[in-house]
Amino acid sequence: MDLMELVKTRRSVRTFDGRPLSKEDEGKLRAYMQEIPNPYGIPVRFLLLDAKKHGLSSPVIVGESCYVTAKADKVPHSEEAYGYSFEQLVLYAWSLGIGTTWIGGTMKRSLFERAADVQAGEWMFCVSPLGYPAEKMSVRESVMRKTIKADERKSAEQLFFDGDFSTPLAAKDEKVRDALEMVRWAPSATNSQPWRVVRAGDAFHFYLAHTKGYTSKAGWDMQKIDMGIALCHFMGALGGELVLSDPGIQTGEGTEYIATVKL
Ligand SMILES: Cc1cc2nc3c(=O)[nH]c(=O)nc-3n(C[C@H](O)[C@H](O)[C@H](O)COP(=O)(O)O)c2cc1C
Repeated sequence: MDLMELVKTRRSVRTFDGRPLSKEDEGKLRAYMQEIPNPYGIPVRFLLLDAKKHGLSSPVIVGESCYVTAKADKVPHSEEAYGYSFEQLVLYAWSLGIGTTWIGGTMKRSLFERAADVQAGEWMFCVSPLGYPAEKMSVRESVMRKTIKADERKSAEQLFFDGDFSTPLAAKDEKVRDALEMVRWAPSATNSQPWRVVRAGDAFHFYLAHTKGYTSKAGWDMQKIDMGIALCHFMGALGGELVLSDPGIQTGEGTEYIATVKL
């Protein structure tokens, strides 16, 4: 599967068939997890956790036997770096037929943090179950997907702009259109889709349109993880260089500059 197919076919999987990961798949994931780079150069350290051994579960997940999580140092931009690296693992798992669900809320965080031995200088933002999708979704999963409209996304006109935030982008280049389509289909917490992109020549400025209530008491922002995921899809499709330099384009209230990709 190419990247577009992976992005378009991936969905959160919350109902698994109960089989543990095969030795072969587990080996592939462990090898892949060793080093998953991100353009921030911030190390994201992955680990697999046996659900039974550590007593791990999530109220929205059924039939899982294993979780993956990752830890990053408490440094600026660690959320974006985390989103970028973790999403690569999500897509790789999907290429092997293994389902995942990004989980940042519906879990007993302290249990997972203990199992992952999170230190004072580290953040463990999210976890995901890993397993083989069941043939049929649980009723709870179907209801959840309908409630958060998980199979829908905002239109390109609502997300992508040319020069400033008042002009929708009509990208002529097919590769750019495809990369933006991959941003559009990215997963995000509660499917809020907070990414906004403004093109200026060969620079694509990424912004976060904040939804209230996503900054944790600990001071990190779940929606910055969404931004890292969007950057992962965009740069996975087009490459480019990540630059952190606010171009000073006027934004609406609650919209924050995150990063620029220069092609
Ligand atoms: C950072 C992040 C955190 C998330 N946290 C949760 C969560 O706590 N529980 C959950 O069931 N889904 C969670 N999700 C999954 C989203 O609800 C899901 O990606 C979105 O509804 C789109 O559906 P899809 O992944 O099937 O395309 C999270 C997604 C992201 C990116």
